[in-house]
Amino acid sequence: MAIEIVPLTEEDIPGTIECIQQAFADDPYFNWVFDSSKFNKKRNIGSLKARCLWGINNALFYVAKETPDQKDEATAPSSRVLGVSCWMPPQAAGVPESWYSWFQSWILSFRQLANNVRFLGRGGLNTRRYWIWKARQEEAQKEIWTDPKGYYFCNIVAVNKEAQGKGIGRKLFEVVSKQADEKGMKCYLESSKSVPNVEIYKKMGFEMVRELDCRDGDDVCKLYCMVREPKQKP
Ligand SMILES: CC(C)(COP(=O)(O)OP(=O)(O)OC[C@H]1O[C@@H](n2cnc3c(N)ncnc32)[C@H](O)[C@@H]1OP(=O)(O)O)[C@@H](O)C(=O)NCCC(=O)NCCS
Repeated sequence: MAIEIVPLTEEDIPGTIECIQQAFADDPYFNWVFDSSKFNKKRNIGSLKARCLWGINNALFYVAKETPDQKDEATAPSSRVLGVSCWMPPQAAGVPESWYSWFQSWILSFRQLANNVRFLGRGGLNTRRYWIWKARQEEAQKEIWTDPKGYYFCNIVAVNKEAQGKGIGRKLFEVVSKQADEKGMKCYLESSKSVPNVEIYKKMGFEMVRELDCRDGDDVCKLYCMVREPKQKP
């Protein structure tokens, strides 16, 4: 099966959301930050859709799809999304946010607000935990992100269950890590699943730099912060 990695388009948003929801169903962070008894899947779809629409213009958002058979290319229906990755582009230290980026963030917030109204709430999101996570994340990034050129930040990587272990995750990493290597820049990610993800990310060239505890009383969500140094050109 030949796989191509292409930028996310609006047409692929439903498949992208399905892939993320399926791959993150047993994610420790997801299960810590959402109250499963109140989880509203439709509200979550609305939220992910807003994030995807924002990501098309503001993030490095890719999908993995089967390459259409060349002879059928003109007539074949568009192939299914098998995996996705969403990376934040690097932000150099001291460079202020552009008006465009500020406006795009504002549109995203507006869409999320509209979701709150439409679905009468956050769909099971525990906002106290969300803000605990945000605060710990900010502290960690302040300490770890010492390179003034900034970091390519892998926010989401997910491959459909039946397609895992076949090299699709590697392709989704490499489409961005190659860009980082060409510019001599570092990549960063946070994972809440240690097994098997930490091992998988090490194979992608990441090294563990810090563990992060998001604590809400006795309930702790551990995050593993990992950095990838750029590969030297031969
Ligand atoms: C993590 C994930 C994106 C990896 O994608 P994938 O397509 O399964 O990974 P690949 O097949 O490309 O494998 C990448 C490397 O990891 C290795 N690997 C794959 N599964 C592994 C496992 N269970 N244990 C150890 N190594 C593993 C592969 O051998 C490969 O190394 P190699 O290229 O040197 O041989 C995917 O498994 C996934 O979506 N998991 C659920 C969602 C998730 O946890 N997302 C991340 C949240 S931070």
